[in-house]
Amino acid sequence: MEISVIGAGYVGLTTAACLAEIGHHVLCADCDLERIDSLKAGRLPFFEPHLDDLVKRNVASSRLEFTTPAVAIDNSEAIFICVGTPPLENGEADLSSIESVARLIVSSAHGYRLVIEKSTVPVQTAKRLWKHLSIYNAHGLEFDVVSNPEFLREGSAVEDFFHPDRVVVGAESPRAIALMKEIYAPVLRTRSTCPVHSQCPPVPEPKLILTDTNSAELVKHASNSFLAMKISFINLIADACEAAGADIEKVADGIGSDKRIGRSFLNPGIGFGGFCFPKDLQAFVRIGEKLGCDFSLLREVEKINVRRTEQFVAKIKKELWVLRGKTLAVWGLAFKPNTDDVRFAPALNIIRRLQSEGAKIRAYDPEAMHKAKLDLPEVAYCESAYQAAEGADAILILTEWGEFREINWKHLGERVSHRLIIDGRNLLSAEEASLNGFQYVGVGRAAQPLRPTVEVKRAGTTAAPLPPTGHQVPTPMQVAP
Ligand code: UGA
Repeated sequence: MEISVIGAGYVGLTTAACLAEIGHHVLCADCDLERIDSLKAGRLPFFEPHLDDLVKRNVASSRLEFTTPAVAIDNSEAIFICVGTPPLENGEADLSSIESVARLIVSSAHGYRLVIEKSTVPVQTAKRLWKHLSIYNAHGLEFDVVSNPEFLREGSAVEDFFHPDRVVVGAESPRAIALMKEIYAPVLRTRSTCPVHSQCPPVPEPKLILTDTNSAELVKHASNSFLAMKISFINLIADACEAAGADIEKVADGIGSDKRIGRSFLNPGIGFGGFCFPKDLQAFVRIGEKLGCDFSLLREVEKINVRRTEQFVAKIKKELWVLRGKTLAVWGLAFKPNTDDVRFAPALNIIRRLQSEGAKIRAYDPEAMHKAKLDLPEVAYCESAYQAAEGADAILILTEWGEFREINWKHLGERVSHRLIIDGRNLLSAEEASLNGFQYVGVGRAAQPLRPTVEVKRAGTTAAPLPPTGHQVPTPMQVAP
């Protein structure tokens, strides 16, 4: 099918490349012509695993082309709108880019167009879009408007496209439904291979959920809000674990083993970030207000999340007391692993707070440093996790990159000036850290004292084990019968 994708950001570019990979001819467009030029030259504006290869392969086979919005709209039957809907000052989504695309469609297209809204938008936007297209329809354009929310996660977006749990289509005409089924047919059939795996793991067949446009739009905001709520909930429980001397990992396993709840998104930490959850949550609260619904539950979710930065800083101060003049190694800047995205990244907020107290930051992230530098120039950016740890009073793990798990404890111990790890993502094994002579503080976990038998080697000297800190979970023997 001839498809255009308007907007070459995280959602648009991934969608365009994946649609081309499943056999469609795709024109990917953006009003940022510099972006289009660099895409034509083979440079992607962000890092997303597998996307580079996918774009190159489909450009080479001419199934994927980059152009201007007007050309794309003119030459396609289906138009995916993937433009940004950033937050306005009051938290509402700014829909002006959607409106601009709508204007362009009615001013330049002829015949029939299937207009597919993929950007995250408030409920009833498809209806408004339909009305807008009808009002400004100067050339007798025939069209349908469909809501097709996206559920791709940064860092695994390509894989998510090929193995979705569900494809949600809000459409109100048989023609639109038939076209949407045709577009997604290769994904809806369980495929044995995708560009990510040579042999895909067995996955259940994706569900096609056909509904009206309002319901489809609500699915998107409600899904993101629910996931955000799960994270804030587990963060509260992590606080309770710390206060009561319980282990959040065990508690999350216990809760998550209930099929009705599920284990995913029950990982506590420094709070959720990224360009989706924080802004979608705020936008949904505003939507609730406009609909006359009390969404104070979601306001609490947001408040709990905002508190995470301060709580983490307090945890650091509890261990290091005064921060002025202390050197802190920050491992991880991106809002999550496998992306270079630092938008609303909790790591950046934490660094700002630490700097405001006079701490010196040495940071390392495998992908996100070039973007973080723009926001935080006063940080010493390092080439490796070890280099960042040089002379550090503590190592702070703020993004759970896999490579941090592979740490060589001996090398690390030789670099730091104080063997303390404050793990904001519960990435490392507390026990392993302790066995290797590091004092370990996680989230919702008992602070691990050093094993008294461990000999701690520091820069060629033998130091006495550090005293245990923080509260401790009583061993079963200590618990009263
Ligand atoms: C999220 C949704 O998961 C996608 O389904 C959706 O398509 C996307 O937003 C969007 O609306 O575009 P994404 O923001 O890429 O995807 O990342 P997530 O994996 O959902 O993580 C979001 C944040 O929550 C990250 O900061 C992550 O560290 C945090 N998180 C996630 C936790 O703190 N704990 C968890 O258990 C899971």
